[in-house]
Amino acid sequence: MAVKSAEGKTVLFKSWGQDWRPFGQPRKKRLVDSVILDKGIKESILNDIKEFLQSGKWYHDRGIPYRRGYLLYGPPGSGKTSFIQALAGELDYNIAIMNISEPNLTDDRLAYLMNNIPERTILLLEDIDAAFNKREQSKEQGYVAGVTFSGLLNALDGVSSAEEVLTFMTTNHPEKLDPALLRPGRIDYRVLIDNATDYQIIHMFLRFYEGEEERAKVFMDRFRQLELPYVSTAQLQGLFVQYKESPDLAIENIGILKQPHMNNFFYE
Ligand SMILES: Nc1ncnc2c1ncn2[C@@H]1O[C@H](COP(=O)(O)OP(=O)(O)OP(=O)(O)O)[C@@H](O)[C@H]1O
Ligand SMILES: [Mg+2]
Repeated sequence: MAVKSAEGKTVLFKSWGQDWRPFGQPRKKRLVDSVILDKGIKESILNDIKEFLQSGKWYHDRGIPYRRGYLLYGPPGSGKTSFIQALAGELDYNIAIMNISEPNLTDDRLAYLMNNIPERTILLLEDIDAAFNKREQSKEQGYVAGVTFSGLLNALDGVSSAEEVLTFMTTNHPEKLDPALLRPGRIDYRVLIDNATDYQIIHMFLRFYEGEEERAKVFMDRFRQLELPYVSTAQLQGLFVQYKESPDLAIENIGILKQPHMNNFFYE
């Protein structure tokens, strides 16, 4: 029954003591089409993963651990988490979320968990920079809580299994990451998921207002007139959700995008 109810859905696992446990109800798969990244980005990541998933024999023949690490970095609300959810749906994978800044987590437990990821499950480490800052802070207080940086590196290196392992990490602050983490084998593929480009603005608009190509152009013109330094895709979603019945109202109220706090309303 559990298998049946998870069909067509994405199961989220969270670490619970020594184990991974399903967290909440399985979620409806998010469609890749619903995430609008800049031109070509989704395709390159998907191609990379597909090639990796077909290369099991190649890795085994060469004695290389069969795993691949991805880093999605960029500002808040640009679609990093959403895209990983959609990828899991597309690949028919589940997601195991590891919170490495959890104070009760030890290096041993981290290593154990990362070596015992459920099958066909993406390992997701969110806000990877936060964990280290926290560690440094607590170090200054003379007490090291939670996992250590070297514990994390070892756990990542140790991740090995007969099955493939896909690890995704996200951060808003790539500059804070230690180069040791960024080396191939730990992170093999990194990509900037940035604030919205013109391409994304138009396609976000069309995603909410199907077939409204003309209005999308008007929206784009009005957006340029605002002369905002940037806008996040989450901000755009906020505006379009608010005026979901009417593209004209979205155009008319585009000034909302100028409100400073809008950026923080719509991302989890
Ligand atoms: N590129 C996008 N395409 C479609 N929806 C998006 C996109 N970016 C953001 N959104 C929407 O905005 C919300 C926040 O997105 P998401 O959580 O994926 O952002 P994020 O990049 O992970 O942010 P953070 O760095 O703060 O974790 C979601 O509801 C999502 O649907
Ligand atoms: Mg996120």
